[in-house]
Amino acid sequence: MEEIRIPALLDAHVHLRQGRLLTAVAPYTERCCSAAVLMPNTDPPLDTPERLEAYQAEVRGHFKHCQPLWTFKLTEKTSLADVVHFKKLGCVAAKLYPEGVTTNSAGGISLDVLGNVGKGRDMPLDRTLQSLCDYSIVLSCHGELPGLFCLDREAGFLYHLGRIMHRFAALRVVLEHISTRKAAEFVTLRGYANRLAATITAHHLLLTLDDVLGDKLAPHHFCKPVAKRPDDREALWELVLQGHPNVFLGSDSAPHLRGDKECAAGCAGVFTAPVLPEVLFELFEQRQALDLIPRFTSQNAQRFYGLTPSERTITVLRHGWTVPKECAGVVPFRSGDVLSWRLVTPA
Ligand code: NCD
Ligand code: ZN
Repeated sequence: MEEIRIPALLDAHVHLRQGRLLTAVAPYTERCCSAAVLMPNTDPPLDTPERLEAYQAEVRGHFKHCQPLWTFKLTEKTSLADVVHFKKLGCVAAKLYPEGVTTNSAGGISLDVLGNVGKGRDMPLDRTLQSLCDYSIVLSCHGELPGLFCLDREAGFLYHLGRIMHRFAALRVVLEHISTRKAAEFVTLRGYANRLAATITAHHLLLTLDDVLGDKLAPHHFCKPVAKRPDDREALWELVLQGHPNVFLGSDSAPHLRGDKECAAGCAGVFTAPVLPEVLFELFEQRQALDLIPRFTSQNAQRFYGLTPSERTITVLRHGWTVPKECAGVVPFRSGDVLSWRLVTPA
């Protein structure tokens, strides 16, 4: 049977949650990743060093082979002392959520503060962004501007990102889960060469808005940013297929219990962790690009985040299997579908 071995994945954007859900979903990341950048939009969010320390204690027991890479949530109250403390705790990135833009983003950065970055006033966010430069912490952005028409929110954020990058010339930035041609073009702007990266999810490489609401409403395909036009999806593939050095996997695997998705006000998030390597192999094979997998799934992110390459490898077998209908109360991506590759679980 055909099998392929690659370096274990580096998932540069994943939501592991807390408590029972963490216990249920962490093994999916542990089984296939050498490292994972853990998002801070827990409840309460990881916006103080004390909360991060408590979360670290909770998460650590779930990982043996996968290295957790910590992040914290930027707020208008984040102080210089906090940034220094977060750095000591091992944070690689500070997450900017425009206020109200997605799951648990209350208390994020208001539009008013975002709009005033770099305007020469002594704004707290300016001081925090400068400290990220000083302490070599990446700014990780949920790149959507709340309040705009939903399909235009990502493009709307780019204006602010441009201003931030112009004002802070040493700032290193990841634009998370890009979903539009405009964002893909922004990432290739030459002026930002080595200090702007983008993550792309497996689901944005597959879905368009049609898969969310073109036929019957598909709540398990609903996420922020919402999947867009076929041309936008092609633009993401163009970046991946050119092996762009600053473009890498961030699964944005975001589990919500079935009842919180299948209801009148369903939560945003696609739970891809249980099928992540398998779906990536399927998609890259369809593009005849299996050889490009390692740079997208580990090498580019390792370089951008300055991490030592891991020795861990994973093996994927050509072997048809049906994705379970539910994993730990959560409906996984591709639930009920037959996939043609399967991760070999290490003994
Ligand atoms: C994420 C979640 O549920 O935490 N949801 C999503 O749709 N992507 C939050 C986020 O990354 O926006
Ligand atoms: Zn996310």
